[in-house]
Amino acid sequence: MTSRPFIVAIDGPAASGKGTLARRLAERFGLAHLDTGTLYRATALLVLEDNADPADPVAATAAARRVDQSLLSDPLLRDERVAHAASVVAANPEVRQALLDFQRNFAAHPPVPARGAVLDGRDIGSVVCPAADVKLFVTADPEVRALRRLAELQASGVAAIYSDVLQELEYRDTRDAGRGTAPMVVPPDAVVINTTALDADAVLERASDIVSRAIAG
Ligand code: C5P
Repeated sequence: MTSRPFIVAIDGPAASGKGTLARRLAERFGLAHLDTGTLYRATALLVLEDNADPADPVAATAAARRVDQSLLSDPLLRDERVAHAASVVAANPEVRQALLDFQRNFAAHPPVPARGAVLDGRDIGSVVCPAADVKLFVTADPEVRALRRLAELQASGVAAIYSDVLQELEYRDTRDAGRGTAPMVVPPDAVVINTTALDADAVLERASDIVSRAIAG
């Protein structure tokens, strides 16, 4: 057993089920969890609160440098307007650079007593933690993801229309996969889990098998 933390990298598009999986895997295996989307969302929220433009590189980079742990649990981060602005700031290479240390530091020094960490996002297996012990890419058909996101929004009391939700997901997929720096990609050594026809429990069991085998070495 080495003292190096055990790292699970989970990437995938919005509403694919990767966040739920990351949280549940972390609980099951005694790992810390970092939802790296919150860093981009916190950056976006700071920009919007300053009435600045998320596409303005100076404003976005300054905001990314102000992000710290205390901002990551703000309920406003879940707002769809913030998600949209997050995908705009996330295309900026300097924003990504400013947030990289936070993510790598979390992976290198997960909060005690965790023996490792699960990080979920878009570029974890490719850029943030390329040496991760397990790499998963969680995806699902856009229509199924839109239905899931719609149900989440409605459950939290937000009125939303299916076609708008689908359009927004496709907008973010295109931006996230098409940007020049750290685009969303399937790392060559990742296991792809398509959750279109799987419920959250089935996804957890499939991923747990992979993690258990990696822990056993
Ligand atoms: O995962 P979530 O939907 O919260 O992410 C919000 C946005 O943050 C994504 O659409 C993406 O643009 C950006 N992001 C990223 N890299 C990550 C995590 C999130 O570019 N590792």
